Amino acid sequence: MSLRFPSNSYVGLHSLPKNKKLSARFSSQFINQIEVSSIPYALPSPSLKLYRPSKYSVRRLNPIKVSAVPNVESAPSSFRNKNPKDVNILVVGSTGYIGKFVVKELVSRGFNIIAVAREKSGIRGRNSKEETLNQLKGANVCFSDVTHVDSLEKSLENLGVSVDVVVSCLASRGGGVKDSWQIDYEATKNSLVAGRKFGASHFVLLSAICVQKPLLEFQRAKLKVEAELMKEAEEDNGFTFSIVRPTAFFKSLGGQVELVKDGKPYVMFGDGKLCACKPISEPDLASFIADCVLSEDKINQVLPIGGPGKALTALEQGEMLFRLLGREPKFLKVPIEIMDFAIGVLDFLVKIIPSLEDAAEFGKIGRYYAAESMLVLDPETGEYSAERTPSYGKDTLEEFFERVLREGMAGQELGEQTII
Ligand SMILES: NC(=O)c1ccc[n+]([C@@H]2O[C@H](COP(=O)([O-])OP(=O)(O)OC[C@H]3O[C@@H](n4cnc5c(N)ncnc54)[C@H](OP(=O)(O)O)[C@@H]3O)[C@@H](O)[C@H]2O)c1
Repeated sequence: MSLRFPSNSYVGLHSLPKNKKLSARFSSQFINQIEVSSIPYALPSPSLKLYRPSKYSVRRLNPIKVSAVPNVESAPSSFRNKNPKDVNILVVGSTGYIGKFVVKELVSRGFNIIAVAREKSGIRGRNSKEETLNQLKGANVCFSDVTHVDSLEKSLENLGVSVDVVVSCLASRGGGVKDSWQIDYEATKNSLVAGRKFGASHFVLLSAICVQKPLLEFQRAKLKVEAELMKEAEEDNGFTFSIVRPTAFFKSLGGQVELVKDGKPYVMFGDGKLCACKPISEPDLASFIADCVLSEDKINQVLPIGGPGKALTALEQGEMLFRLLGREPKFLKVPIEIMDFAIGVLDFLVKIIPSLEDAAEFGKIGRYYAAESMLVLDPETGEYSAERTPSYGKDTLEEFFERVLREGMAGQELGEQTII
């Protein structure tokens, strides 16, 4: 059996592929002393390969000197008074859809970027080291393993630099239960622990607006890491965070553009008005995340954020698409109960066949995005509110649809899981 969710259901919000089948409190101590050699930059070691794409970026890296490592008193916001070229930012999840743009934006703002990547990055590990280096131009690429705190720390130690800020754009590529906990929680926490050890006093987390109403495992994992950041800031006033909770990404809404262009109907759940979102582009979100590095008004804040313009329902997105194509709208309305039925069956099967756990979770993810708006939940009314959802940036979904109609979805691929 294979079941395809309409992309307007935001299935892609957590990486479900377009057309694809339903197919510690840790020790937060600063290091007060680090054994460093007298050489200005640590030599690459087997566990770390630091690539220096340009001479300029190498020069800008700040080697750790014992005197340069912040102590608890001086650490709090000292990096905010520095010139960006003297601020070292560790970016984890640097090779993702948003992470790549965040690296690019931070590099363009003049920060020193240490981008952590896997040797085989991207969807299904399809990018080689060379391709990753090319993708992350202007950053110092550190091939390491965020899933093991020891390797990450070793890599940073070998790198011989201090860290001022950590930016995490990590996300489970698969979206399954274990993977979500391993990446959205554990690996993100590892980057906090390692970043703190090397001096980081600020953490910018890319989270998701949907954690407001947590029904899915990845949302619970994200909330747990959000809570750790808050606890850390509460217990150490030298530490700050900014939690960014965006609405839908463009890639999550573009899955039907090419199908509709080819004459297929636009598929949506119910009457197409079950939910709405304020989609945001990768560059706009990357810019907002980069603002979080220095902006004092974003310190210790949870920041929901959407793109420009009004909130759009699936129906409105479909109408927009047909208008751009100059065609009469043709919709296929799918009763939401179909998803409830599929989820019921999967939930039953998972009791007999535990390996279907992820399939059941993907069903729930699809159901969630079919009916829940990616907007701020108004605490007073308990309703989603477009008015309460801040807008940022300039890129519109309409421009994105126009581009996809012209050039296709290249670069906008969703995740990698196949369900049933
Ligand atoms: N899609 C939406 O509409 C939407 C809306 C709001 C919020 N969000 C949230 O935004 C976040 C980022 O999304 P995205 O689309 O940019 O994610 P993505 O493209 O899937 O990127 C995930 C990043 O995490 C890394 N990663 C995943 N598994 C790893 C592992 N085992 N070891 C090391 N690194 C690993 C990936 O590295 P590799 O390249 O090596 O795989 C990649 O850099 C997610 O938390 C998502 O929930 C999404």
